[in-house]
Amino acid sequence: MPKPEPRPRICDYEGSNYRTEFWEGRDRDYEDKVERVALRRLLPPGGRRLLEIGAGFGRLTSEYAAYKQVVLVDYSLSQLQYAQEHLGRTGRFIYVAADAYKLPFRPGVFDTATMIRVIHHMADVPKVLAQVRRVLAPNSSFILEHANKQNLKAMLRFALKKQAWSPYDLKPVEFVELNFDFHPEYMQRQLQLAGFAVQRRLPVSFFRLGALKNKLPTNMLVSADSLLQYTGLLYSPSIFIKSSAQRSTENNVDDATIFACPDTGAPLVQQGDTLFCRATGTRWAIRDGIYDFKAPLEE
Ligand SMILES: C[S@@+](CC[C@H](N)C(=O)[O-])C[C@H]1O[C@@H](n2cnc3c(N)ncnc32)[C@H](O)[C@@H]1O
Repeated sequence: MPKPEPRPRICDYEGSNYRTEFWEGRDRDYEDKVERVALRRLLPPGGRRLLEIGAGFGRLTSEYAAYKQVVLVDYSLSQLQYAQEHLGRTGRFIYVAADAYKLPFRPGVFDTATMIRVIHHMADVPKVLAQVRRVLAPNSSFILEHANKQNLKAMLRFALKKQAWSPYDLKPVEFVELNFDFHPEYMQRQLQLAGFAVQRRLPVSFFRLGALKNKLPTNMLVSADSLLQYTGLLYSPSIFIKSSAQRSTENNVDDATIFACPDTGAPLVQQGDTLFCRATGTRWAIRDGIYDFKAPLEE
């Protein structure tokens, strides 16, 4: 029997207070606004089906109004439950609890994908990018945000010898367990290797400093950041990248079922409140409108 592939570590947000502790309780209005500016600049004008990977509690879903269907994937059921409470069960939003390293979708079923504030938790970047590429139709768009190791603060700290790791070294740095900063050239190369053509990169969130945010009005900082996004100076803490899926893969955007077995890739059949893989007999639960791929149902 071939040994099963080792599973990459996952940064588990199950039951976390991410929304209240990180966003609402911490005055991150500036960060939220500049990310929305970048996202609006990069998102195609609209489309049929968008996938957000690591969507969390659905912070950015209001930006996807021009999409007919929006599929929110997150490893945390509790984040998705909150998203569902606020976005409802209209069928336009599909909630999927799954691991980004094993996306439970058929090839080519999405025409746009986004992944914001998520890849910094990924120890295996090539593996997750290969998954995103697989589920995107040819010529579709992928908007990826990543934490940038070559940011001004890191460059200054390195120059003053207050930081051991070099911001110029292309290798990712894991500064806290499962929290990685990436060099822009590293991420661009990984996207190309995964079959994406990088089209545009925006530096975002230059003024992410408590001292500045406390002293200056948020809208002033947002306007200044919006202008700096055009400069292409990739020295901000966050980078947004728009790329297009290259090389042919199947295009299944018109198919009735978007789901595939995360183990075999076989299309899944819905039976009652379960999804069923005919190839292996495995079943996954649909719990209160959330497709749960975190663990299959016991036989
Ligand atoms: C920092 S939050 C960002 C949430 C959202 N994208 C936002 O910007 O508000 C990171 C999210 O990634 C999810 N995540 C981390 N590793 C994951 C994985 N392997 N598969 C799916 N989701 C994952 C976490 O559950 C969490 O909700």
